[in-house]
Amino acid sequence: MRLRLQKPLFKAPDCVQIDRRMKGPTSTLASAASVDDLRQLARRRLPRMVFDYIDGAAGDESTARRNRAAFDHVLLQPDILTDVSQRSTKTKLFGVEVAAPLVIAPTGMNGAYWLRGDLSLARAAKAAHIPFVMSTAATVGLNELVAEAGPLRWFQLYMLRDRGLAAALLERVHASGFNVLQLTVDTAVGSPRRRDTRNGFTLPFRWNIRKLLEVAQRPSWAWQMVCGGSPTLKLFTEVVGPVPIGSTITEVMQRQINDAFTWKDLDWLREVWPGQLVLKGVSTAAQVRTAVAAGVDGIVVSNHGGRQLDGAPSSIEQLPSVVNAAQSRLVVLIDSGFRSGADIAKALALGANAVQIGRPALFGLAAAGEAGVCHVLQLLIAELTSAMALCGATNVQDLLGCAQLEGLLESRAPASFTT
Ligand code: FNR
Repeated sequence: MRLRLQKPLFKAPDCVQIDRRMKGPTSTLASAASVDDLRQLARRRLPRMVFDYIDGAAGDESTARRNRAAFDHVLLQPDILTDVSQRSTKTKLFGVEVAAPLVIAPTGMNGAYWLRGDLSLARAAKAAHIPFVMSTAATVGLNELVAEAGPLRWFQLYMLRDRGLAAALLERVHASGFNVLQLTVDTAVGSPRRRDTRNGFTLPFRWNIRKLLEVAQRPSWAWQMVCGGSPTLKLFTEVVGPVPIGSTITEVMQRQINDAFTWKDLDWLREVWPGQLVLKGVSTAAQVRTAVAAGVDGIVVSNHGGRQLDGAPSSIEQLPSVVNAAQSRLVVLIDSGFRSGADIAKALALGANAVQIGRPALFGLAAAGEAGVCHVLQLLIAELTSAMALCGATNVQDLLGCAQLEGLLESRAPASFTT
């Protein structure tokens, strides 16, 4: 049996109001002490196919596991008897002050985890005074997002086959006050995600008896879907037109993403985008040198959270050689596998300027909407502040050099980090 719930059963009076009322189980939230606790809450609230879309990765998920395992080989150096009574996580990214070296990474389909989830993420980032990156695969339109987001809003682009459409989109994006563009460069082709195939995760959602019975046990999620209807790639359809019914998200993107876009084409992008340009998905020193030569302003060291090339190295193990090659000529951001403030401290100690989080923010979102995202951000910033102080650092810059690599990762360290 296939049932499609694309349109809402009835028009909710004000979906944003509903989003605000449904702050989620705040008492449970208060006892969530880690990102993993939030992950468990998300798992309990979401149907399996939706949870697996967030949690899953490419292939046999070895890169996703390595993203986590590698942190055990980066050791923070404790410091003692240092005055750390005045601590601050404030820093600057692209010349703008942010409250912490933390960014909410671009993620698609956010409306599937919480009603109008993109807006909840943007509001939480605004409250924390950190950047939020809107994805090309957002489930809200540009104007809706702009109305709710703070000034620290960045945009992520999947390069479209049709340059005219891409240029028109970027013109709108820039006119809407986005100054930083992240071009995702690790998705020339999509990578099959086995959990999504097994679960039949398509747009719009495809229902069968088993899934409906499961949803019946997830009333909070089900109610939001009744109010809002099955989420759609709203921004994307605004730009390229309706997406074919029954496709997986990877298939939808694949039809439109330009798989022939190369380093040379960055000149064109530079012409149409007047703001800061960041490449998301860089992983080697050679790529960084080419990016510097191409006049790029920043990079995100990323393997897409293990969702693209399975078998690739973890981001954190690539970081030292990338930082070495960057030589402060561009802003170095990193993501993939960050789950605690100590993880963030390790990246800063190895020379990153800030860390992006994907799944941690989504686990918070799925668990309790905006309140859940705020909770995750507070946890991470509190843990980072604690790690900084115990390393003898009173600000983010002081952390630089406070980490050692051991074992397998040692050979990747630039000379200044080995002891
Ligand atoms: C993503 N990511 C992603 N990246 C991007 O450039 N555009 C996008 O639309 C998406 N969509 C997306 C959806 C979901 C559900 C996830 C989990 C991730 C990748 C994301 O920006 C980031 O690189 C990773 O999530 C970082 O890894 P962690 O923090 O999830 O471990």
